[in-house]
Amino acid sequence: MTALPVRLDRGAADPLGVQLSTQVRDLVACGTLRRGDRLPSTRALATDLGVARSVTEQAYDQLVAEGWLTTRRGSGTFVASDAAPRAVDGSRRAETPAVNLVRLSTGEPWIDPRHRAGWRRAWREVSAATPPRGYGDPRGLPELRVALADRLARTRGLVVDPDEVVVTAGTTAGMRDLLAVLPPGSVGVEDPGYRAAVATVLDAGRAVVDLPAERRHDGATLRGLAAAYVTPAHQHPLGRVMPAGDRLALLDGARAAGAVVLEDDYDSELRYDVAPVPALATLGRDDVAYLGTASKSAPPGLRIGWMVPPPRLLDAVVGRRAVVHDDASWPAQRALLTLLRDGWLDAAVRTARRVYAERAARVAATMAAPATPAATSAGMYSTWLMPQPAALRAQESARRAGFDLPLLSDYCRSARETGVVIGFGGLTDAELDRALAAIGRGLG
Ligand SMILES: Cc1ncc(COP(=O)(O)O)c(C=O)c1O
Repeated sequence: MTALPVRLDRGAADPLGVQLSTQVRDLVACGTLRRGDRLPSTRALATDLGVARSVTEQAYDQLVAEGWLTTRRGSGTFVASDAAPRAVDGSRRAETPAVNLVRLSTGEPWIDPRHRAGWRRAWREVSAATPPRGYGDPRGLPELRVALADRLARTRGLVVDPDEVVVTAGTTAGMRDLLAVLPPGSVGVEDPGYRAAVATVLDAGRAVVDLPAERRHDGATLRGLAAAYVTPAHQHPLGRVMPAGDRLALLDGARAAGAVVLEDDYDSELRYDVAPVPALATLGRDDVAYLGTASKSAPPGLRIGWMVPPPRLLDAVVGRRAVVHDDASWPAQRALLTLLRDGWLDAAVRTARRVYAERAARVAATMAAPATPAATSAGMYSTWLMPQPAALRAQESARRAGFDLPLLSDYCRSARETGVVIGFGGLTDAELDRALAAIGRGLG
């Protein structure tokens, strides 16, 4: 055995050695590691996990002391013969517990460790700044909105006044703001589509109408809807760019139906095959609510995004905010201001784009029949179509290796697309290699 399905989090409260011993103990207790199994050497495991050898030594020492592992001089470390997993016979392993599975998530960005210094600088500035005494402007910090308007013009071709920009606590928070002030009515959501968007619409007490993701939508399909949620720059999760003709038909249709288009522009800057496609809102501000997020280039836990509501909804959004105080937290806004001013976000996008291009190529090189790519890869995930039995085999093989592989069918409501969605942002290179090898075994 050369690797273990474990994952360490440098940001967690527990020291790395404790995290490792806890996870290895769980693997033995649930039968993923069986009595007599040989563990990787402390040196190999330390290299694999990118930690100091003292971390792996400390974890093994602890588990030897507790009787889960034994060492045999000169031949390595093994699961102790009396560390019997509960109810596991020799032929069948218990399931790897979900808590230990590394999710191949479409929503976890890769952040270059070289950007840590800039990140810390931003938070030092936050701690030195004086917070506003009251709730502040319901649209968000004025200086931040100036910086965001500048960035929208520069990177998305969207020229707006800073007073038209509203800072949000992320994409779904922006959607909630808009859904609260839109006239009554159902909301169309792409299918397959972003599950959080579906949940947000339902939470707002509105019905969801499935809009087939790869079809053109016009006045006929949008009739009777209050809004239509779309991801035109990079359809989530199928990956296509909405063609120009479909964009124009959608805008005409929305105008005719009196619906607002909710444009989720979540990862448009992370294209590596072509230049980022301009925002849909550049073609018609009147009927589009533009939603942007920092979650694809900064840790999503920052919970910050921005939106440009259509002019007819701006006052209502700001007025509601002034009453319910549903805005982004001041420290997050203040930190984002520094990150923008210092060029941190731009640098994060540039380096992530390079890493994602390389990882997407690695995924493509591993995938084999019956898998076919759903679209050119962009951003931090790559979607592969295949019959459901093959997708399930790939998922099961990934699970045995310690990974949670999302199925394309999980993103469908009435659509019948099948395949897998391989998110590769939140993994180390070594984890990605292991996951791909397992997926390949499942397909082969
Ligand atoms: C399609 C889509 N939109 C938006 C987001 C980001 O959401 P938020 O800004 O709420 O973090 C994600 C994150 O996974 C996403 O997949």
